[in-house]
Amino acid sequence: MTIYLNGQYMPIEEAKISVLDRGFIFGDGVYEVIPVYSRKAFRLEEHLLRLQHSLDGIRLANPHSDAEWTGIINELVARNAAEDQYLYLHITRGVAKRDHAFPNPPVRPTVFMMSNPLLTPPAELLGSGIACVSAADNRWLRCDIKAIALLPNVLLRQLAIDAGCAETILIRDNKYMTEGAASNIFVVKDGKLLAPPKDNLMLPGITYDVILEIADANGIPHEVRKIAATEVFGADELLLTSSTKEVLAITRLDGKPVGDGKPGAMFARLHRLYQDFKRDVMRA
Ligand code: PDD
Repeated sequence: MTIYLNGQYMPIEEAKISVLDRGFIFGDGVYEVIPVYSRKAFRLEEHLLRLQHSLDGIRLANPHSDAEWTGIINELVARNAAEDQYLYLHITRGVAKRDHAFPNPPVRPTVFMMSNPLLTPPAELLGSGIACVSAADNRWLRCDIKAIALLPNVLLRQLAIDAGCAETILIRDNKYMTEGAASNIFVVKDGKLLAPPKDNLMLPGITYDVILEIADANGIPHEVRKIAATEVFGADELLLTSSTKEVLAITRLDGKPVGDGKPGAMFARLHRLYQDFKRDVMRA
């Protein structure tokens, strides 16, 4: 696997960073995950916009122009073998003596990028759906920043793994559903697709946008509004989205079936439309 680190391409085994990197010491950095279909980065402009939003959120100057990012990304994609890849892009505030305050004057940010083959969920998972647990969303109030400091998300995801499940659905203040530990969540009730609004309590998913655009373009009834926890537990269907998982049906929550416990009609329709979109738009 060839990776990119601070201006150079190299085998991942040769990549080294300082133990004083603020990403290592403080989790002081942001990241992006960008799917690549047929060697073309999907929604690159939107991913770079979200990256800029994250960098602004942590007050770190963007080390590259969009043209430079595009050049690095295209080169990394070319140097890796798979036709479909997912890029992991990681920027930290750089290497400095350990001090919470920003280095002054600023130091060079650390820029790391790697690529892995993008493997979409296997047919059996699409057929069965996944099981989830729910938990209190105990993260900070800037979940719109794609921060590398993911300890809360790691601990929350592990609750699902410990219960033999795939993802944890997060409930803020015992009231509203925000998202999954590493995914966005949609509710289906009476034929309508419900999505929580993009705010400071969730990551604005690129796949979330795609799903809402597909719903819009195909006359699927949908509404973006706050979703009460009770609506999650009383849903006809629950759906999970992310760049690497695309769209999945959640068929069990906290050990109980969601709806009739099988992937539902909304999932089947959105998954089919997502595959059409991938073929016609993402690979184009
Ligand atoms: N995670 N919410 C959270 C907290 C996430 O970490 C992710 C993605 C999403 C979905 O966003 P998108 O559709 O843009 O992938 C929502 C990535 C895949 C990860 O951390 O690996």
